[in-house]
Order: sequence, then structure tokens, then C-alpha cells
Amino acid sequence: MSWFTTSRFGMFIHWGLYSAAGGRWKDMETPWVSEWLMRKFQIPRNEYRKLADSFNPVDFDADFWMRSAAEAGMKYMVITSKHHDGFAMFDSSWDDYNIVKATPFGRDPLKELAEAGKKYGVRLGFYYSHEQDWYEKGGYGNFWDFPKEERTPEAFEAYLNGKVRHQVRELLTNYGDVAILWFDTPHIITKEQSSSLRKFVRDLAPDCLVNSRLGGEGEWDYVSLGDNQVPFERYTIPTEGIGTMNESWGYKPFDHNYRTVPEVLQTMAKLAACNANYMLNVGPDGKGNFPAEAQEILKGVGEFLKINGEALYGTTNFPLVYPDNRWGHVTMKENVLYFWCFRNPGEIRFYGIRNKLKTAGIIGGTSIAFSQKSNLDYDFHRLILSIPVDLPFPFVIKAEFDGLLSCNPEAYYAGVLEEK
Ligand code: GLC
Repeated sequence: MSWFTTSRFGMFIHWGLYSAAGGRWKDMETPWVSEWLMRKFQIPRNEYRKLADSFNPVDFDADFWMRSAAEAGMKYMVITSKHHDGFAMFDSSWDDYNIVKATPFGRDPLKELAEAGKKYGVRLGFYYSHEQDWYEKGGYGNFWDFPKEERTPEAFEAYLNGKVRHQVRELLTNYGDVAILWFDTPHIITKEQSSSLRKFVRDLAPDCLVNSRLGGEGEWDYVSLGDNQVPFERYTIPTEGIGTMNESWGYKPFDHNYRTVPEVLQTMAKLAACNANYMLNVGPDGKGNFPAEAQEILKGVGEFLKINGEALYGTTNFPLVYPDNRWGHVTMKENVLYFWCFRNPGEIRFYGIRNKLKTAGIIGGTSIAFSQKSNLDYDFHRLILSIPVDLPFPFVIKAEFDGLLSCNPEAYYAGVLEEK
């Protein structure tokens, strides 16, 4: 787990037949996430699969994808190997419904990414929709092709023991070390089924992490937050937030509602301050290109982390519970606090830290003035950091204290109501 929590930042990739459709069907467009196109318009499976006939991502370049992730400061990549539409983006012997057998492209992009990842030190994981599969009667969700009486618990069990185990085995044995199997949307899977699948994965790849969307209780290694959920609590177990750059996981060319770099960094800071990772999504198009807006965001985030990466990687959960600060967020590493500043309050007043502050300065910039005041009778401690006015935001203040941090847990809140 330590590589995971130390990494703090990864790349999510949603790439499939839906990327070629780009959220459009006939003369319509989906108002929602584009990877749900087949479900949104209840497209018959034999019509949807025709997308494969012309799926030929000639611009796909695994080296560019992995280099982009590495240069953006991302330490791992999770890519959709099979999404809810049931189409495998890898060479599977289960059936012909996959990128190698059903498309003119005829190559296995996951194999090429596994190779490229080694070159850039980016760990590779696979998203696998283990429950929803709109190509299979036993998969959950396709009520428009398969009548209810066919979609039985027995059919689902057969799907799990058939396609899912077959393809999970292929993913865990044909692509080298797999860092994460990222399952999604557990609706009907039982505790027994999820425990059994967890054991199946562990037996094949003991070091492969499994996220909580496997389903079942506690059969996973870390918690996946909700889509674009930004937390308001500090987590004590490994947790990962996931986010889109615009409003769709899959490629959606008419969705220009992209987040700015400061907005992405503020989400990153908030998640890190809550002890959670951030996996930021890219939805490549049907030719295998990253959208230009996505490349801009990756570039801006990478430039920020080249200077301020120490405020993210390897940071842990700062024990003091303090209010959600409008100016930014705080991460901690040993005897250092990192104040991620996104707007200028003129000064930062921070309470409850008993240690003496030794130095404070902008990472990559000037030192800054600070003052401390304590009243030991009340275990009251106040730190003031003076914020220079002429700095472009965001920036990070690094504050080094004399020893591991000791905090008054009730510095901000009355704590428990009942008398101790
Ligand atoms: C939701 C959507 C799915 C997407 C996932 C990303 O579960 O169903 O399309 O892959 O969020 O977290």
C-alpha cells in the first residue's frame, strides 16, 4: 500500500468504442457522460458493436500517454480495460468482442502501455466493469436487448464465473505487474461473490490493489470516493478521489466545461489534506489523441508539481482538525507543514501547533515573515504567516517546525460536548 498512499496522484483513462462516438448518436447527443451512450439511447448491442468496424486509433501512442502522465506528476495510470459496454480494449480469448479481433486497429493498447509504463516509472492498473456489461445477458444493465426473465441471478453468476474471471485472469497474467484492478458500480453482486472475486485476484496477483467499488464489505484495499466527490473529512484508511477534467469520463468533444489548473490543484490539495489520492481522468478521442484542453491541464499541473511536488508526495494526515480554509489546504510531512494558497487573505492565522516554527517560505520563492504566540494555561497557540501581496496564486508555503508536530486537538473546536 505504501507506494499507493505515497503517490497521491494518478491518471484515469476512459477509452473505448464510446470514444469514437464522442457522446453523439444519430442526430442526438447525450447530456450525460459519454461512456454511457449505449445505455442512454438503449442502443441494441448488434448496432452498437458496429462502432468497432471503424475503430482505428492510428494516433494512439502509448509512449506519449505514459510520458504525459509522468510529466504531469502522476505516479500511476488506471485505464478502462472493459467498461459497461462490454467491449474489451485488450487481446482477450473470451470472444471476438475486443479491440484486437473486432477492429481494423488490431493491436493491444494495454500491452503497449505496460511496456511504456516501465520506461517512465508509471504503474499500470486496469478499470474493469465486473458487474455492468451491456453486451451480455448475464451482465447487469441491458434491459433493452435481454428480457427480464433472462437476466437472472444464475445468469449473473455464470457471467462472473465466465467472462469476468476469464478476462481478469488475462489482465493479471498477460501484462506484467498490475498495480490496481479498479472495479466499478456494484449493484447486485453479493458479499460471497465479491469475496470470491477478491480471492481470485489475490491468488493470481497478491500485490494487485483492489478498490472498494468491488462491492461487498471490506474485501478491498482502499476506498474509492464518489465521482468528483471532494471530501470534508480526514481519512484514516487509504482513499482515492477521482475526477473528470470536463463533465464526462469518456471523450465528449462538445463538452468544453473544463476545469482550470488552479481548480484541479485545489481539488488535489483538498484530497491530500484529507489523506486521499487524486486520480484525474483523461478521455482520449477515437483516434487515440488526448484532447487539447486535457493536454493544457496536464502541462499546468506538471509545472506546478515540478516546483511543489514535495507538498504532495509522501504527505500524511495532519492530525489537527481545522476548518475548511477558504484560502487553501494544509498537508504535512514529518515536522513540516505545507500551506497550499489559492487566494490571498493577507495573512494566515493557524491555531493549535505547540511547536516552535523555525523557517517559513514560499517553495521556489522568498522566505516569509511569521509570528507565534502561546498561552500555556489554555494550551492556546497561534501562528501568523504573512502573505506577500505580489505573488501569482497558487503557491505553497513550507513551514519547518522544531520536531514532530504536537497539536492541541481542541484548538478549533469545542471537541466532545460531554465533560471529559
Ligand atoms: C461511474 C460511471 C462510469 C465511470 C465511473 C468512474 O461509475 O458509471 O461510467 O467509469 O463512474 O468513476
